[in-house]
Amino acid sequence: LNVVILAAGQGKRMRSDLPKVLHPLAGKPLLGHVLDTARAIGATKICVVYGHGGEQVRTALDAPDVTWALQEPQLGTGHAVLQALPGLANAVSPAPTFTLVLYGDVPLIRAATLQRLIEVAGNDSLALLTAHVDDPHGYGRIVRVDGLVTRIVEEKDADDAEKLIREINTGILVAPTAALARWLPALGNRNAQGEYYLTDIVALAVAEGMPVVTAHPDAAWETEGVNSKVQLAALERVHQRNVAEQLMEAGVTLADPARIDVRGELVCGRDVSIDVNCVFEGRVVLGDGVQVRANCVLENAVVGAGSIVGPFARLRPGTELGRDVHIGNFVEVKNSTIADHSKANHLAYVGDATIGSRVNVGAGTITCNYDGANKFRTVIED
Ligand code: UD1
Ligand code: MG
Repeated sequence: LNVVILAAGQGKRMRSDLPKVLHPLAGKPLLGHVLDTARAIGATKICVVYGHGGEQVRTALDAPDVTWALQEPQLGTGHAVLQALPGLANAVSPAPTFTLVLYGDVPLIRAATLQRLIEVAGNDSLALLTAHVDDPHGYGRIVRVDGLVTRIVEEKDADDAEKLIREINTGILVAPTAALARWLPALGNRNAQGEYYLTDIVALAVAEGMPVVTAHPDAAWETEGVNSKVQLAALERVHQRNVAEQLMEAGVTLADPARIDVRGELVCGRDVSIDVNCVFEGRVVLGDGVQVRANCVLENAVVGAGSIVGPFARLRPGTELGRDVHIGNFVEVKNSTIADHSKANHLAYVGDATIGSRVNVGAGTITCNYDGANKFRTVIED
């Protein structure tokens, strides 16, 4: 299975110097989400088609398993996939290879949906991910005759009858790689936008007698793209709601599932409770019975069972708290271990320290760790 990810578009409507696919969703670039999904479905080859800001994208993603194809100039989605072809596995025997086309700015597509699409594609079909929507404006329409897909017509090329069609092309598709190698060089650009449309391969498949089949996403947000900051924020909220639901299904108590932000991996034991407005970044592990009170930020930290963090506490990378540790308001901990039953309840900075058990760090205490050139470790024993 080859996966081609289109990411050459400029993203003008983001009004930003950062290439669109590098804008973070839940702390990770949009393109990073798509790459992870491609890996999750077992892609053997992943090729990203890049253009604008390309070098920046390659460096930022630092993905050694990815082949990069430059598309310059950008002449349409069909032209984009054509640039990826030389980088793809294209065996015909003993088993044919397939190519799945994804988009760098469509971050929330689910692996389960893609697996369904790959399944319906079977051995020798073109499979399209389509959706029935109330307002199809702007999308390519799926044209069917007697129930069978015959072609896709783009909004700008559609006649009035075609514009009424409410089954739309999400853009995601699976095709036999050998067929793509036949079709893509044969595409023309005589259409309203003067572009080489990937969608024109549908009519070519039909002309060859290849079956064109369809599958559908479970939720509309799976195939929604990011073209603006407004759309980015909307998908961020969808993603955070999904994460909150997973946490609650796993037994975590959330004071308000709409007021938690997880930008990484949050691993929770049993009977963890999290109050409102907490942000988790990187990998955070909370042991059994941990309470995180309101307005805390935790980044790459481990919190032992029965500990209480917050309100208004900040755990920075390298923090390891033992069991039954209390970190109170306006306490910052960085690169420090604090052993069982110790407390820092008010207004303290614990940086680069090793603190034993049953230690009470009094209000306003600072472990001075930096002289302007070197970092020093502070050790406070049991
Ligand atoms: C495309 C589909 C349309 C579908 C819609 C779904 C075609 C011709 N049309 O339309 O049927 O309903 O997506 O959103 O495919 N890109 C490149 N290089 C290019 C052109 C585009 O990499 O030369 C990338 C863009 O960065 C973007 C994606 O391909 O991520 C889609 O391009 P866009 O121009 O937005 O497609 P639409 O015109 O919306
Ligand atoms: Mg376009």
